[in-house]
Amino acid sequence: MLLEVRDVWYSYPGSSFTLRGVSLGADKGEVVAIIGPVGCGKTTLLMIASGLIKPHRGVVLFRGKLLEEQLPRARRSIGVVFQDPNDQLFNPTVYDELAFSLRQLNYSEDEIRSLIGELARRFNLEDLLDKSPYKLSAGEKKMVALASILIYGPELLFLDEPTSNLSAKFSREIKSIILEMKESGKSIIVASHDIEFVMGVADRVYVMSDGAIIGGGSIVDVICSESLLMAADMELPLVLQVLKALKVDFKSDVLLLNRGKLIGLLKKKLC
Ligand SMILES: Nc1ncnc2c1ncn2[C@@H]1O[C@H](COP(=O)(O)OP(=O)(O)O)[C@@H](O)[C@H]1O
Ligand SMILES: [Mg+2]
Repeated sequence: MLLEVRDVWYSYPGSSFTLRGVSLGADKGEVVAIIGPVGCGKTTLLMIASGLIKPHRGVVLFRGKLLEEQLPRARRSIGVVFQDPNDQLFNPTVYDELAFSLRQLNYSEDEIRSLIGELARRFNLEDLLDKSPYKLSAGEKKMVALASILIYGPELLFLDEPTSNLSAKFSREIKSIILEMKESGKSIIVASHDIEFVMGVADRVYVMSDGAIIGGGSIVDVICSESLLMAADMELPLVLQVLKALKVDFKSDVLLLNRGKLIGLLKKKLC
C-alpha cells in the first residue's frame, strides 16, 4: 500500500464530532473515493491522511512508514486540493500561482517557464497566466488550484469535492486528468458527493457516516448497493435507476457500466 490509515481517531476542540477508528488504504495507481453525507468527516479524514492534521489515536503510513516522521520531505510527493480554491490561491497572477511550489523547491526560472508552458497547454490556462486568480470563474480557479499542485508531480493526490460548483465541462476535464494520472501510476484519494463522478473515476469506495466507515468495496459493489448509497445520502446513479425501473439485472453484468453497451441494451429493451 502506498498510503495506509490505521484506526485513526480525532475530535475538534469544543465539537461533538469524532472520527471513530477509521482505516483506509490506497495502492499505487489506484483511485479511491470517500463518500458520505455532509458533516460525516470526509474532509477531516483527508486532512489526517495527508498529514495536515495529526490524529489523536492511530497512524498514517506512507510507503510503509509513519508519515509524520517523513515530513516535511514527503510533502513533495503528496498533493492536496481543497474544496474551495479560494483557500488555496494567494498569488498575484496565475503564473506566480503555478510557479510558487517550484520556486520553493529551487527550480530555475527557465525550468519553471517551461513546466508552466506545458501544464498551461494541458489545462487550457494559457490565456489566464497574466490574470489574477481572484478574477477567474469557479471552474478556472479549480483548474489553477489543481494545476498548481500537479506541477510538482505528486505521486499521491488528495482531492476534496473536486466537482462542487463546477460546470459539466470542468467536471469532465477533472475526470480526464484523474484518469491520466492513474494511467501514469499515480494514486488519487477523492472525497466526493457526486456519484456520477465517483462512478466514472473510482476503483474502490469507502462509505462514511457519522465519523466512521460503514461500508465499501469495489465501485461496482458500492453503486449497486442502494442501501449503502442511501446511508451515504446518495442515490443510485441515474443509469442504474433506469435499469432498475426496466427490471434489468445490472448487478450480474459489470460491463453495463460501459456507456456503449448500456445504450445498446436500453435500445433493445425499449424498441
Ligand atoms: N475546525 C473545526 N472545528 C470544529 N468542528 C469542525 C471543524 N471542521 C469540521 N468540524 C466539524 O466536524 C464534522 C466533520 O466535518 P468534515 O470533516 O468537514 O465533514 P465532511 O467533509 O464530510 O462534510 C462536522 O460536524 C463539522 O462541523
Ligand atoms: Mg468536506
